[in-house]
Amino acid sequence: MPFSSPRTDQDDHLWLECWREQRTDFHQPVVNPLLSRFWPALELARGSRVFVPLCGKSLDMLWLAQQGHEVIGVELSPVAVSDFFRERGLQPTQKQVGDFTLWRAGKLSILCGDFFALTRDDLGELDTVYDRAALTALPENIRELYVAQLQRLVSKTATVFLLTVEDAAADATTAQANGIDDEIKALYSTGFDIELTFVESVFEADPESASLPDIRAEYKVYRLSCR
Ligand SMILES: C[S@@+](CC[C@H](N)C(=O)[O-])C[C@H]1O[C@@H](n2cnc3c(N)ncnc32)[C@H](O)[C@@H]1O
Repeated sequence: MPFSSPRTDQDDHLWLECWREQRTDFHQPVVNPLLSRFWPALELARGSRVFVPLCGKSLDMLWLAQQGHEVIGVELSPVAVSDFFRERGLQPTQKQVGDFTLWRAGKLSILCGDFFALTRDDLGELDTVYDRAALTALPENIRELYVAQLQRLVSKTATVFLLTVEDAAADATTAQANGIDDEIKALYSTGFDIELTFVESVFEADPESASLPDIRAEYKVYRLSCR
């Protein structure tokens, strides 16, 4: 059963507008290096199905398909979905699946519509989730509902491969900054075992001011196993 979406029309409107106006700074022009470096350790069988929530037009989906996976993304914006296939020179088929339009080319499928309206029947059996800038794209008050919806959609033995980027607080100790983030613990610890696979600290210039000290960003790779 779908549950009623906690989002406001305004949330949808902002994302749809972003794509229409091509304000998509979050889009990465290359495959995420942490994906290609740490994904193989999951040792998934070729042909296994990977779910990519809030997928945008991410090139990571292409890389996952090249590893032999069946990739199923979900994305609100038809502009993003259309751009994804067009920019790759792919010619997808389209068909209506409930409230969604399913775009498909080979191993790549994207359901265009609202993640919060998805059901297990729309997706079929799924064991693995790839999340880059999906959870963290949502307002904080909606993230708990995102995790609950994810749990409804995937199998009881699913694994989530989660990438996050956090700004380390100016006064954070290295031990704090290198640990499992409190919000990730709060959101996932009741349903998942959380393993922090990798942390990289990167010092980035403060875009607001050249005279301020660099900001420390923590790039983290999590492996979350449903229990
Ligand atoms: C920050 S972007 C990240 C996209 C992609 N994961 C990436 O790594 O490039 C978040 C995406 O989520 C989409 N989105 C936002 N709310 C959504 C929803 N309720 N259902 C499906 N997609 C949604 C937006 O249109 C946007 O493309």
